[in-house]
Amino acid sequence: MRLTRDMFVRNGLDLCANAKTVLERRYLKKDSDGKLRETPAQMFHRVARHIARAETAYDENADVRKVAEQFYTLLADFRFLPNSPTLMNAGRRLGQLAACFVLPIEDSMEGIFDSLKNAAIIHKSGGGTGFSFSRLRPKNSMVGTTGGIASGPISFMKIFNTATEQVKQGGTRRGANMAILRVDHPDIMEFIHCKAANAELNNFNISVGITEAFMEAVRDDRTYDLTDPRDRRPVGTLNAREVYAALVEQAWKNGDPGIVFLDRINRDNPTPGLGEMESTNPCGEQPLLPMEACNLGSINLAKFVAADPGSPGIDFDALKETVWTAVRFLDNTIDMSRYPLEAIDRMVKGNRKIGLGIMGFADLLFQLNVPYNSDKALSVAEEIMGFVQDESHKASLALAEQRGVFPNYEKSRFAGDSRRAYRNATTTTIAPTGTLSIISNCSSGIEPLFALSFVRTVMDNDKLAEVNPHFEAVAKREGFYSEALMEAIAGAGTIAHMDDIPEAVKQVFVTAHDISPEWHLRMQAAFQKHTDNAVSKTVNLARDATVEDVRKIYDLAWELGCKGVTIYRDGSKENQVLSFSTAK
Ligand code: CDP
Repeated sequence: MRLTRDMFVRNGLDLCANAKTVLERRYLKKDSDGKLRETPAQMFHRVARHIARAETAYDENADVRKVAEQFYTLLADFRFLPNSPTLMNAGRRLGQLAACFVLPIEDSMEGIFDSLKNAAIIHKSGGGTGFSFSRLRPKNSMVGTTGGIASGPISFMKIFNTATEQVKQGGTRRGANMAILRVDHPDIMEFIHCKAANAELNNFNISVGITEAFMEAVRDDRTYDLTDPRDRRPVGTLNAREVYAALVEQAWKNGDPGIVFLDRINRDNPTPGLGEMESTNPCGEQPLLPMEACNLGSINLAKFVAADPGSPGIDFDALKETVWTAVRFLDNTIDMSRYPLEAIDRMVKGNRKIGLGIMGFADLLFQLNVPYNSDKALSVAEEIMGFVQDESHKASLALAEQRGVFPNYEKSRFAGDSRRAYRNATTTTIAPTGTLSIISNCSSGIEPLFALSFVRTVMDNDKLAEVNPHFEAVAKREGFYSEALMEAIAGAGTIAHMDDIPEAVKQVFVTAHDISPEWHLRMQAAFQKHTDNAVSKTVNLARDATVEDVRKIYDLAWELGCKGVTIYRDGSKENQVLSFSTAK
């Protein structure tokens, strides 16, 4: 079966060509000959029905069909989508529905290889894994049982990378990993340079786990202690500013390492009694305890613009309804997912974390006529995310009245506070929505558009051309649309220097490289203020940005209360995911 435009229209789904390609490649059911066995509408029905089935566990008279219909409408209108593994696996044999996992790595051969095996199983199902390698003894330490010499965290990362590469061939999508090493681990300098030195770490994002003590040492230009992870004894010192300079320079060169502020993440740990958060998922937005997983889902803000074209605004009533249904959907997803390990199942069902976020933020700003790089955009961000956060907490509170608080509640920092007697230990996370945004034909996460028209590489190789529909509509309405102009824009990526376009349009339709790195970061910080977990954001820098520019961004992330930061300087990686259609 080939999907035709007619088929979508008949099913009432408004899917763009790129969405069709992505769904055909990896999401829709296929038979053993590779022929498609479901349409996108059938996929949404499969997902909605499966997730609605959780209702019977709480109410034997639940109207599952009605809830399934409610879920279906949410998905088919592209108002909300759950993370990719839910779309791929709900109601199917694999049944693993979460995108984000963190696995512990113990300092023993058994521990390391257990973790490797678990990561492979998770990758097979489309989930991503984060690890802290900080507990591994440093390179060249003694190995007690054999009298040999330990090879250290970086050499083990290579094994994880190779395993990921192999699983990719048969799995649902390319597996992704996050490796975190604490800044006080003795191998930190090797870690900072490891991606530049080893092409075989290409399936990893890496981040340095920064501590308050380290940032204070940077501020005061002091040395700080390196400690042996086995007994926390100091085994050396480094100059904090030199380490900071090295990681900033390396990030300038090729985007890695990012940084995560571990102490800050742990200040927001809802269940500190259950352990420390040592790592995030691969894209950084979801800090988790070891052996914890999280289901994410994203609301498409482009669908919540109130109809009045004279003074467009946000339809908060509709948004509220969607938040409440989405929280219920994600809470159900926890029960319907099959987790690859008993220990993960226990941890997930004990904390019941969910990560509701948004996508289509840049599209929303276009529709509201607000430039991304403006104070007004920051206040829109705070207003919207504050609202989503607040309503998701209320929805979780209401669910707890019917279904009970999350089982670890009494051990959590909410214990005894009836205003925070939640069903879910966390409710909000802002994901990158790399694929979800293609399926929904909206801008991804909270990112500005990369370009108004560009070529996107999806699923490793396919190249797809895109023109932003809001820009196209305005161009036609204001009478400056022409094929030639659209092509010119695809080549340039930005309209900032084009004389034929009205100034007011240029101000609103800004793209990633028209926006200064500081504005990128301010936007991340605005969203972080109203997000339980963390925010996925890439701070884009121009090709000619300096090392000092990167340093300023890292400093600002710290000052503004972000939980981490990822930068990307144009052209600094060989296989850039997004590129302009004409090589520059
Ligand atoms: O849009 P989609 O749901 O496919 O994913 P995303 O929002 O771009 O990424 C959310 C999370 O999914 C990431 O942080 C990873 O944990 C995981 N992921 C992965 O494991 N492998 C990928 N190729 C992409 C995402």
